[in-house]
Amino acid sequence: MTTFAASTLTTPSTTSLLADRADVLEAPDRYRVLTGDRPTGPLHLGHYLGTLRERVRLQDAGVQTFVVIADYQVVTDRSDTSEVAANVRELVLDYLAVGLDPLRTSVFRHSAVPEIGQLMLPLLSTATLAELQRNPTVKAEAGHAGPLSALMLTYPVHQAADILAVGGTLVPVGDDQLPHLEQTRVAARRVNERYGRGASVLTPPQALLTEAPRLLGTDGQKMSKSRGNAIALGASEDDTARLVRSAVTDSEREITYEPQRRPEVSSLVLMAALCSGRTPQDVASEVGSGAARLKAVVAEAVNEHLRPIRARRRELERQPDVVDAVLAAGLERARPLAAATLARVHEAMGLT
Ligand code: TRP
Repeated sequence: MTTFAASTLTTPSTTSLLADRADVLEAPDRYRVLTGDRPTGPLHLGHYLGTLRERVRLQDAGVQTFVVIADYQVVTDRSDTSEVAANVRELVLDYLAVGLDPLRTSVFRHSAVPEIGQLMLPLLSTATLAELQRNPTVKAEAGHAGPLSALMLTYPVHQAADILAVGGTLVPVGDDQLPHLEQTRVAARRVNERYGRGASVLTPPQALLTEAPRLLGTDGQKMSKSRGNAIALGASEDDTARLVRSAVTDSEREITYEPQRRPEVSSLVLMAALCSGRTPQDVASEVGSGAARLKAVVAEAVNEHLRPIRARRRELERQPDVVDAVLAAGLERARPLAAATLARVHEAMGLT
């Protein structure tokens, strides 16, 4: 099994927040990707067309890739953990089905790497209450009814620990995640300033901006794992067709692509376009008129696009040990990196 030494990375200590995609593709061995998902439900078409395809692209370009299944993050906003273990398995199957290759991409569970949790303590000392309260994700949660857990408040630091522990230098994110990345960079820089004596203890990571198409769920709201409005990657073709048929549209007969004025219809058009490699305008004019016709075209395009992925997923589901083997291999790579990072921080702090 390959292990990756932190010292193989030569990322300069001062970088800008945004990574340059051309540079990543030109020198993939100078970067290490760390990204992740919360195991709150099966991945859906929106994830696939946004983040999952990007991960596979980066992996295939030769960038070392680590994916954390952030099981501890599930309890930031809920106390029920009864479905976490099952969701972890589903996530791993989704990853493999879309083309993440366990020989090149390390998938591990957050809870299996105690060093990440331990690294969070010194990192917490670098973040101020005001910074955390300003973070848009935290702010949005604080605005909801119900109490805000201290884990939710410290979510950005939690995520920083995931990234910094394994020495991730490149984090593919949507622009809504940039504040987390900024907080991670601040944490790394403050550790370096306080304890580094000129040397770099932690490397501030860069964001690789990834545009996720704004697909709506069948209820016209944002497509989301937890809202029950999403087309899961692993759904059957019949369920997919049924879900698409249930999608809200509007009362105009003619099908057009006007995301601002007609968000629901346009999202369906975009879905068909992305799945069939055509432009939304072409899809709209080909359909012509009628929501039922549009939905038939969408269901067909989605099912056709996902067919090989689903076939592969079903094959993997029949292999009983595959998920455990992938998680064990990922852990074997991630944990030594996290242990080395923690040791480096302790040493810089003079604790050892
Ligand atoms: N918070 C991310 C999500 O909700 C998952 C995640 C956990 C993550 N740790 C990360 C993403 C580190 C990027 C980097 O999906």
